Amino acid sequence: MSINHPSFGKLDDDRIIIFDTTLRDGEQSPGFSMNLHEKIRMAEALTELGIDVMEAGFPIASPGDFESVLEIAKSVGQRDDTPVICGLARSGREDILRAADAVRPAKRKRIHSFLSTSPLHMKYKLRMEPDEVLQAVTDSVTLARQHTDDVEWSAEDGTRTEDDFLCRCVEAAIKAGATTINIPDTVGYALPEDMERIFTMVKTRVPGADRIVLSTHNHNDLGLAVANTLAAIKAGVRQVEATINGIGERAGNASLEEAIMAIKTRHDAVPFKNNINTKQILRLSKMLSTITGFDVQPNKAIVGRNAFAHEAGIHQDGVLKHAGTYEIMLPEDVGWAKNSLVLGKHSGRAAFRDRLDQLGYKVGQNQLNDAFRRFKDLADRKKVVFDEDLIALVDDEVMRDHERIRFVSLDLYAGSKRPAKAELELEVDGTVRTATATGNGPVDATFNAIQAIFPHNANLVLFSVGAVTEGTDAQAKTTVRLEENGKMVDGQGADADTIVASARAYIHALNKLLVKRERTEPPQALSA
Ligand code: KIV
Ligand code: ZN
Repeated sequence: MSINHPSFGKLDDDRIIIFDTTLRDGEQSPGFSMNLHEKIRMAEALTELGIDVMEAGFPIASPGDFESVLEIAKSVGQRDDTPVICGLARSGREDILRAADAVRPAKRKRIHSFLSTSPLHMKYKLRMEPDEVLQAVTDSVTLARQHTDDVEWSAEDGTRTEDDFLCRCVEAAIKAGATTINIPDTVGYALPEDMERIFTMVKTRVPGADRIVLSTHNHNDLGLAVANTLAAIKAGVRQVEATINGIGERAGNASLEEAIMAIKTRHDAVPFKNNINTKQILRLSKMLSTITGFDVQPNKAIVGRNAFAHEAGIHQDGVLKHAGTYEIMLPEDVGWAKNSLVLGKHSGRAAFRDRLDQLGYKVGQNQLNDAFRRFKDLADRKKVVFDEDLIALVDDEVMRDHERIRFVSLDLYAGSKRPAKAELELEVDGTVRTATATGNGPVDATFNAIQAIFPHNANLVLFSVGAVTEGTDAQAKTTVRLEENGKMVDGQGADADTIVASARAYIHALNKLLVKRERTEPPQALSA
């Protein structure tokens, strides 16, 4: 029987719905939090990637989370190509109503309610009897359906739930009106054969399971999240939940780019279709790394720096003769540029804008002007400007929109003969302020100058420097982590000058802290 879904209509049997949870399960993991502006940027880029459902956040978790889901619903959620905007909720009335309020303005909306069903979680986490859990499933889904026709219900810790009880809960959720049923491997415990068995069982035993979409959501604690996702698809699942770069709780979630490319590359074995524009994958991966300050490891499948690099002579020789000898996918298919040498100091504004368009960046006139000025400056100092340089530069520029504190200029006196001195100019709430400070090296002097202009009590807990490309003239990419009253933020900066990049990263972190100060802490035990 084919499925008639409230948001997608009649679903082709070979259609896979891609549910992205980067902004919820990904964002809630330590160090990956994003501010509203960053979430909206990601939401726009995810829409251009072609995802079907965007889990935009967990509205009850904090006023900030509520606001970001609401703002995404009001902005991205109004586009003609909007994905379904989804808000997560536990099973309580207040949670569901908060999620309903947050997604309400979206043209297409979903409430995703979840409740633990495993013996361990019911006894120790929920302190609820199985019958109470069953009742809560019915009540929560019934309430959610009063606010939208598109309701997903998840059996948290579903893969460690007793078969009979799992089937009873799924049946109750379907009867109450759930249109998607998700059975998450919350703790990343399952093996591929478990996934096949569980989904086959639910499909065959639960009345009505053929009328709804079954969904898979896998954590990567044993490194099996993508393998489990593929096994679930084989067993009849039609919705895949995943995150960009595989970010998420503990070892992360199934990586969206890996799952998508496995389906595309092995279409012979996994013959399903989806709406993802794979050429946007690298852009999303890099944007997320820039926003969060976490690069993927070099050997990360699909988006790692080495994913398509061939070092061994025998491999290089083979690839030169025929790429297929050692490459199973085309690097261009996921957004790697064939020739990433792009612009030089004689390139004009039109060429610059054109290249940004090709890289998938749509920037406003002001940002374009600022980015072009920085590009010219960079091209003067650097022999060649690569796509990676442009991406770092534009991300850095876009990231700074709406910030209260902005970098203006920095002059440094450093070396082995005297203490380093920094003369810094910053714009704070529209007014330019200057300070001169000394320090134990140029970075210390610069950070002391920031402190002099904008006094604060945050502690510097991490400072790291990397290079955007190779060579001694490469741009530096820096991350600064600040901590204030237990709140942690990461800031990023990029510049041909390492100390300027460091100042930019520090200022970025400080701006994030200012935003975070306005938010209240989420209630305990919300994480899923
Ligand atoms: O891992 C999990 O169980 C979850 C649910 C909320 C779907 O993230
Ligand atoms: Zn999860």
